[in-house]
Amino acid sequence: MLPFNPSEKEEKMRNYKFPEGFLWGGAVAANQCEGAWLEDGKLPNVTDVLVGIIKNGKKPALKWDDSQNQWKMDLKSDEVYLSHEAIDFYHRYKEDLELMSQMGFKAFRTSISWARIFPRGDEAEPNEAGLKFYDDLFDEMLRLGMQPVVTLSHYETPLALVCEYGGWTNRKLVGFFEKYVRTVLKRYRGKVKYWLTFNEINNAFKIPFAAAGIISFPPSDPEEPMKDVDDKMIYQACHHMFVANALAVKVCREIDPQAQMGVMCSFSHIATYAKDCDPENVVGAALFKRKHYFYTDVMCRGHYPNYILNEWEKTGCKPIMEAGDESLLQTYTNDYIAFSYYRSSVYAKDIEMKSDTGGAIGLNNPFLKETSPAPWKWPIDAAGFRYVCNELYDRYELPLFPVENGIGLAEEKETGKIEDPERVKYLRMHLEELAKAIEDGCEIMGYLWWGPIDIVSAGTGEMKKRYGFIYVDRFNDGTGDLHREKKASFDYYKKVIETNGQML
Ligand code: BG6
Repeated sequence: MLPFNPSEKEEKMRNYKFPEGFLWGGAVAANQCEGAWLEDGKLPNVTDVLVGIIKNGKKPALKWDDSQNQWKMDLKSDEVYLSHEAIDFYHRYKEDLELMSQMGFKAFRTSISWARIFPRGDEAEPNEAGLKFYDDLFDEMLRLGMQPVVTLSHYETPLALVCEYGGWTNRKLVGFFEKYVRTVLKRYRGKVKYWLTFNEINNAFKIPFAAAGIISFPPSDPEEPMKDVDDKMIYQACHHMFVANALAVKVCREIDPQAQMGVMCSFSHIATYAKDCDPENVVGAALFKRKHYFYTDVMCRGHYPNYILNEWEKTGCKPIMEAGDESLLQTYTNDYIAFSYYRSSVYAKDIEMKSDTGGAIGLNNPFLKETSPAPWKWPIDAAGFRYVCNELYDRYELPLFPVENGIGLAEEKETGKIEDPERVKYLRMHLEELAKAIEDGCEIMGYLWWGPIDIVSAGTGEMKKRYGFIYVDRFNDGTGDLHREKKASFDYYKKVIETNGQML
């Protein structure tokens, strides 16, 4: 089946209504696409020492140096760190943005790699070459009619802040982050309207090193950077990130009041269904979801909710707070909620819920017939997308921005155009459900497809898992000439955007 058949035009023209000015587009992250990991003054960040943030539980490539009381980078010669060169977006962004523009993108999300601006994180002055790169990048997007949607930290804490300061458990990071935010907000004032603070901050417990720069410091074992990390440390880091998030909102209001500062969470977790109507499963699923609402409850409602205060009372995990922190949290809440949605999960009281970059993992859902291909096998649940939008809107009544949704396929480039009907189908199904969520009354700012161009997978660090409408010639072993090619889905998404979602 062809992904888009013009003869079906009439049939597929439904009355889907997306608002005027809807931000259609796609999203990537600096560490997964830019490459140039040590160019123009940039120093390593947390993802640079990982082959993938989840992959087989591999630990960060670091070794403790007792003489200097810090962690040192210790890359393994038998590993391929694909993100170091990634897809070379750093040098090829013009060509790539031109392709996005051909699809009609109204918005493009990427992150600023913090370590390009403050390479160690604690410098007095920013790195001009890094600032200049993003100036050029945002100018190019604007020239092509795309709004930049910019994440301040997408698993990209500068490594020196982690290795020498102990990461986000150290209060000093709040100040370093605030300085970084002031620097980029000033520099890109008037250019960037949509900011996001921490990508998927609610993954702090699942992937503490990548999501919250947490590490054993000093360690009990020089080979095991994550050995001593416990819940108390993670809550402490979260508190610092919440304060940093509130300060980012404050800085945004002061420097560029026209701009908006959003939060970003992995909210596939909210599509966690109880296995059945056993009240214990229902209550258990609700409590599980609350572990993820926790982050937006604090950042968007402005205070720590009772359920967490009670938990801290019992477990002794209450973080150290400074005078003024709570009032900052209360005053500076975020303007909108951005989130990723990939799939749903099923909760049961007698199983241990797991997770990866796609969200939670529980029991198989017998009502969902399709998954993404092996080995990933993420269940496909478009209705879950509508469900999440409604749950979030009901709870917060804030504008919602799905900034990640997509399917990873193992496409091989042979001859001719890559046909990817599974991607078209996934996109169509999810947009239909998004249209229903809009009809339900949810305020939706736009829709960004994850990985409109093939990039390095965050979870597994591989190229093989491709999300793009645009193919990139690079492979797991690091080979490939990096040339770009349109896949069949490219034309489909173009058509969707052209018709403002009427043609699905
Ligand atoms: C999200 C991340 O969790 O999932 C992205 O914000 C990531 O960085 C995306 O790429 C998809 O996950 P993966 O592991 O398939 O790349």
